[in-house]
Amino acid sequence: MKYHRLVENAAHPNGFWGKMMIKSMNKNHSQLTDWALDHIKINKTDIILDVGCGGGRTVDKLCSFVGNGKVFGIDYSELCVKKTEKFNRKNILCNKAKIIQSTVSELPFEDEKFNYVIAVETFYFWPDKINDLREIYRTLKHGGKILLVFEMVKKPEEPEKWEKIEKRLGISAVSKEEITDFLLRSGYQDIRSYVNSSKNWLCLTAEKE
Ligand SMILES: C[S@@+](CC[C@H](N)C(=O)[O-])C[C@H]1O[C@@H](n2cnc3c(N)ncnc32)[C@H](O)[C@@H]1O
Repeated sequence: MKYHRLVENAAHPNGFWGKMMIKSMNKNHSQLTDWALDHIKINKTDIILDVGCGGGRTVDKLCSFVGNGKVFGIDYSELCVKKTEKFNRKNILCNKAKIIQSTVSELPFEDEKFNYVIAVETFYFWPDKINDLREIYRTLKHGGKILLVFEMVKKPEEPEKWEKIEKRLGISAVSKEEITDFLLRSGYQDIRSYVNSSKNWLCLTAEKE
């Protein structure tokens, strides 16, 4: 029962179980995020967006890379925005981070703003994958990159691995081929994928030409 309430709050954290989920995400996605961030080269002046920022640990990690740059975080959950702001109080005070409540489907940013857009463990929940990837594309600078990060990766030898979570949340685990296809159909170029085979993690980078 407790486990179910917790898992249900991965999609849109809210209330007591949302708070528990945010704590768990900040802890359990940290290593995955570090591994994925090793596949991009962030410059000190970069402007970066973290989509579906959850509890804010990724925003904080990104702030440690940028000097004169800036990190924005968006999440459609009010609770996530509050928790990310709390986690990043110092980053916000020194104007390195800004957090906004928003859906990925309609980003409150002008065209060609970001060097990188990062999305850790959130793609599964987006309502219209192609539209949402195109919306991110709009906000990327030319030469800017998206980094998509996944833990719920399909494993042909274990077809039932994610079944319970998929059913409970109405989402699907992903494969490298499916995400590549989504990225191609949304206009991205130079798609590269990376797999951590011991952990079964997947991340992809793709560029706006
Ligand atoms: C599993 S959590 C991952 C959070 C964080 N990225 C991490 O790795 O810890 C998914 C997050 O995506 C957010 N999210 C889901 N759908 C969204 C959407 N359509 N627009 C904005 N945020 C969304 C949820 O509110 C939640 O914070």
